Amino acid sequence: KPLVFSGVQPTGNLHLGNYLGAIRRWVALQAEHPCLFCVVDLHAITVWQEPADLERQIREVTAAFLASGIDAGEHILFNQSRVPEHAELAWIFNCVARLGWMNRMTQFKDKAGKDRENASLGLLAYPSLMAADILAYRATLVPVGEDQKQHLELTRDIAAKFNHDFSARISEKGLGVPMPVGDETVDGYFPLTEPLIEGPATRIMSLKDGSKKMSKSDPSDLSRINLTDDADTISKKIRKAKTDPDALPSEPKGLAGRPEADNLVGIYAALADRTKADVLTEYGGRPFSEFKPALADLAVEKLAPIAGEMRRHLADPAEIDRTLRDGAARARAIAATTLAEVKSIIGLLGN
Ligand code: TYM
Repeated sequence: KPLVFSGVQPTGNLHLGNYLGAIRRWVALQAEHPCLFCVVDLHAITVWQEPADLERQIREVTAAFLASGIDAGEHILFNQSRVPEHAELAWIFNCVARLGWMNRMTQFKDKAGKDRENASLGLLAYPSLMAADILAYRATLVPVGEDQKQHLELTRDIAAKFNHDFSARISEKGLGVPMPVGDETVDGYFPLTEPLIEGPATRIMSLKDGSKKMSKSDPSDLSRINLTDDADTISKKIRKAKTDPDALPSEPKGLAGRPEADNLVGIYAALADRTKADVLTEYGGRPFSEFKPALADLAVEKLAPIAGEMRRHLADPAEIDRTLRDGAARARAIAATTLAEVKSIIGLLGN
């Protein structure tokens, strides 16, 4: 059965973009697929993290998953560093991937900024670890926001190069599974991952600037809605969100060239599980002075209970730690098999 894998970095406030672009969609996928959800703490340390903050944030992200409806009993919820196979497979992938592939990653260029010589080596190799996260379980379904698309393409490139470089060994060991490559079918070990980037909320923008994505690192707290915001804060941020002076259009094509309006309609649609077209059938022709209060009410209705549940989970950190430890043990049982097979394919003794 196709497995779902996805992850979130414990690097700061989880916001509406993380929720609508990823976590909310994971909750829906749980009904149809076996899922692994990961707090990717090793990715977080590619940029400096205060150790005490990191510990707190790992628990907060875990609490947010649980509060949003991730079922840690039925599925697997764990923190990445507890399953050493991720780092081990990432090393092997560092030797498969090419430096040029990493240098082209837009996230690396953005995060490293001008002082690239001073970026950590881990920041450059980040996508190898991400490929390892997914391929340690040979997961094929990866629900993420738009900003992860390039990383997932690299995951496919790594899988394809590994399959190609080791094809003779893969067949010799009987570890190949037939998979389509272009028009032919070849025996490969790692499957080609599919990004699941769907729905009205794959790229939620800043509430203050429709040309920038909503992000954990924006210095303005008014630019994002945090999952921990209370009802008043959520309402205030929506009231203060940037808009244009026109009324809402009656069809999605009328949102072209109106990034702030497009963003707020997308948020409404995602929170209400409706399409943008459907939302505009209701609100087309109405001014923001009417739409914003409706959006604020909807956001409070959907998000305030999550903040409450998060606080409840965080009141018992020992239980959160137990959940992560139990998830890691179950994840490891799968990843260890992959690593043993990968080592035998490559020619590393040790099994
Ligand atoms: P991260 O922690 O930056 O974000 C977590 C998830 O939230 C999505 N997201 C958004 N979606 C819509 N609008 C936004 N403004 C927005 N901002 C963030 C992200 O696309 C992501 O799905 N590299 C990943 C974590 C990762 C991972 C993985 C994901 C590590 N290994 C393996 C999938 C599979 C990241 O930094 O996400």
